[in-house]
Amino acid sequence: MEKVLILGAAGQIGTELVNTLRATYGNDQVIAGDLLAANLSEPCIQIDATDEHALRELVTKEGVTVVYQLVAMLSATGEKLPEKAWALNMQALFAVLNLAKDQLIKQVFWPSSIAAFGPNTPTLDSPQMTVMDPTTVYGISKLSGELWCQYYHDKYGVDVRSIRYPGLISWGAEPGGGTTDYAIDIFRSAKKDNAYTCFLAEDTRLPMMHMDDAIRATLELMNAPKEQLSIWTSYNVSGVDFTPFELAEALRKHYPDLAMRYAPDFRQAIASTWPQRIDDSQARLDWGWQPAYDLSDLVQDMVEHV
Ligand code: SER
Repeated sequence: MEKVLILGAAGQIGTELVNTLRATYGNDQVIAGDLLAANLSEPCIQIDATDEHALRELVTKEGVTVVYQLVAMLSATGEKLPEKAWALNMQALFAVLNLAKDQLIKQVFWPSSIAAFGPNTPTLDSPQMTVMDPTTVYGISKLSGELWCQYYHDKYGVDVRSIRYPGLISWGAEPGGGTTDYAIDIFRSAKKDNAYTCFLAEDTRLPMMHMDDAIRATLELMNAPKEQLSIWTSYNVSGVDFTPFELAEALRKHYPDLAMRYAPDFRQAIASTWPQRIDDSQARLDWGWQPAYDLSDLVQDMVEHV
């Protein structure tokens, strides 16, 4: 039986992953770890994910076998604190990779992002293997991290698996300072004010995914037989893609009078360098990836729960 540690458990992905893994493995088999542990349910621990020494003690004491390392500063916040973002994103990854290298744990999950792509990446159906020239600190840390994951796999036999998440849409926990956060904010504003001012231009198309699909993708990849995998950097996975205008139109089925304004800010320059849609045929081939939510399912679910 695996014993799982989730770092960044209070975040947008962590909140959902803790619940799903506890339903699968049993409550006691899943430790929720975060720097801000106040809202976590037991078993949980307050821990700094960059503190390799503390992590070593914890995984040894608790017999942890698998770590999901979800701690990161996202694209928009990272541009305000570039050095901090780089230090946090890389140290948190290395701490966990080193535990696996020393065979204290068996398996690692670490998320990459569409932010690892850049302005010279083909923007429609961006291939798995392509030009990657990220312009944000977050994107640079994700691309570098992907290569480090591959390095630890190739040199030390570390089983570290990764997905390039699109913008993730969920209602369980707040998003953490990303460029795709508008696609969550809009639901709260529609409900509260019947109006939304979007920080991206109306025609900015980006890859997105419902959180249920993202969690399922993560667990399907983690459970796939190792021999079936061919990518040890990070897998492209696709869900839906839409523009703010298209999302607003879909939302008007529920809020017919929704008033939209567009006031692009510094996040527009980030979004403009990211792909509009990514090609995930390698994930489909290697581990059978298939998204379940289309735009209307996603909107329906968000409207019901937000
Ligand atoms: N959602 C993230 C962001 O906008 C992308 O991985 O930063």
